[in-house]
Parts: sequence; structure tokens; C-alpha cells
Amino acid sequence: MAFHITKAVIPAAGLGTRFLPATKAMPKEMLPVVDKPAIQYVVEEAVAAGLTDVLMITGRNKTALENHFDRIGELEATLLQKGDIERLRKVNYSTDLAEVHYLRQGDPLGLGHAVLRAKMHVGDEPFAVLLGDDIIDERDVLLSRMIEEQASRNATIVALLEVDPKLTHLYGIATVEATDDDDVVRITGLVEKPSTEEAPSNYAIIGRYVLRPEIFDILEHTPPGKGGEIQLTDALQTLAANPDIAGGVYGVVFRGRRYDTGDRLDYIKAIVQLAVDRDDLGPDLRPWLKTFAEGLD
Ligand code: UTP
Repeated sequence: MAFHITKAVIPAAGLGTRFLPATKAMPKEMLPVVDKPAIQYVVEEAVAAGLTDVLMITGRNKTALENHFDRIGELEATLLQKGDIERLRKVNYSTDLAEVHYLRQGDPLGLGHAVLRAKMHVGDEPFAVLLGDDIIDERDVLLSRMIEEQASRNATIVALLEVDPKLTHLYGIATVEATDDDDVVRITGLVEKPSTEEAPSNYAIIGRYVLRPEIFDILEHTPPGKGGEIQLTDALQTLAANPDIAGGVYGVVFRGRRYDTGDRLDYIKAIVQLAVDRDDLGPDLRPWLKTFAEGLD
């Protein structure tokens, strides 16, 4: 029987070393993308897909995350006093977005370990995992499509993006077989961050997953892998190799806009791309960008 998914787990406990020193005292998920922290886009996406119960796995410097989704009485009072209702609305919006719970990861032993920490909260039901530094453009559909596939196949669903073969060493890469659905493939194997030569394809896993609760038992028995971390990809590989455990693994191929805000270059591109499309910033930014680009070699 298909289960109605309501829970989202958002791991946000990574060290964010690529962004040091900005992430010395602040999680990378709090870096602003235009005028919202990256994590707010991710929570908004979860809510838009019908997920109302959000569990954030946090690390050191978690206070900024908690404050962002909480009431700040002093700030609200000042905005109200000034009659700045528009900004007050924006401040309250992030507070009222969803029911957000927090859990410390403890030691950052890897993404698989962060997901395993959600076991008690999730219980025995399928759930979504959204990486807190990965933004999917709200104009493109992904998570609700994945939830739909999870319900119909009763399997594990990951999001796949076709990447430049030169970049396979940055992702978990899948061996795939076609299905009857144009945007869905069956995954028969997964390997974490292979070289171009070793990569079985250019289908890369991006930061959205709809998992079955069996993943927790698998993660408990998954030894540290690449980089000495407990890798979610390794646990998914176990499920892909043993489809009898939990119905196998399928990939929804995403062809929309995705921004990896944990990477400095992608982060800058994300801000520019999102800002040029905004009504309040685009009309001024676009002509400036054109002139700026003309001045480049
Ligand atoms: P990354 O691979 O981007 O690692 O994690 P990182 O440590 O955050 O960043 P860099 O590479 O040092 O710059 C992918 C996702 O998994 C989470 C991160 O917060 C990010 O959303 N993560 C990673 C955890 O929650 N815990 C971990 O132990 C590792």
C-alpha cells in the first residue's frame, strides 16, 4: 500500500570546508542566495511537495539555523513599529513555513551517518532527504515526481542529473537501465566519486532522495567508505544490488535547474541566475551584467 510521505530530513552538519573562512562560525546552509539563506529554499521545496515535518541534522554552529526558523520578537517589534509590513511578512514567513525539528549529528562522520541519526524520528515509514546546500529551482518539478514514483514502485528513489563526464569524481555515479518511463531509470549499481575512466555512466546523484526505512538497517552496517566517511551512496549500492530487500533503486532524471551552493563557483552562478529573473532586481541587474560581460576578455 502506498504511504503518504510527510517527513523530510535535511542534513546540514557538514563542515563546509570549501567555503572557509565564511563557514568558520556559520553553517554553509546559511549563506545567502540573493536575500534568503540556501536552507530556506530547501525547506520551501519540501513544503511545496507536501512535506510538513522537517528534521534538520545539525552540526557545530547550529544556532544560526535554529534562529532563522524561529520567532525573533525584537526584530518583529521594530519592523512593526516602523510600519515595514512587507519585511515583517518576509521575516514571519520563514518562521511559519513548517514544523522544524533539530537533531545534532555529533561527529560529522559522513552523509550516511547524518541520515542514520534520523532513524528514531522517522520510524517505519518512507521519507525524503534533501541536502541543505543543494537548491532545485522552484519553477522545475523534481521532489513531487520522486514521491509519486516512490508510491507507485514502492522502491528507493534518487534524483539523477546527467553531468559532464569530466566531473564524475564529484558525485555518486549510477549504472542504469531504461524503464518504460522516459524520465525514470532502474539503478543496478552505484559508485561514489569515480574518475572519468572508472565511471559507469554520467548519471550523477544529486541531493534529493526518497528512501524506505530499510535504509537505516543498511546504514548501521555500512563501513566508512570514500574519505573515511559513512557514505549514503554505499548504502544505496547495497539496496541496488539486492532488490529483494526493499524493491531496488530507481532514478528520476532531472532536466531542470539545480544549484550546488556548497561549491563556490556554483554558488556565484546561482545568485546571478536567480537574481536576473527577479522582478525587483532583474531589470537593473541584466543591463549591468551585459555591460560587465562586454568588458571581459
Ligand atoms: P558535502 O559532501 O558537501 O560535505 O556534504 P561538507 O562537509 O558539507 O562540505 P565540504 O566538502 O567540506 O565543503 C553533502 C551534504 O551532507 C551534509 C552536508 O551538510 C551537505 O548537506 N553532511 C555531510 C552532513 O550533514 N554530515 C556529514 O558528516 C557530512
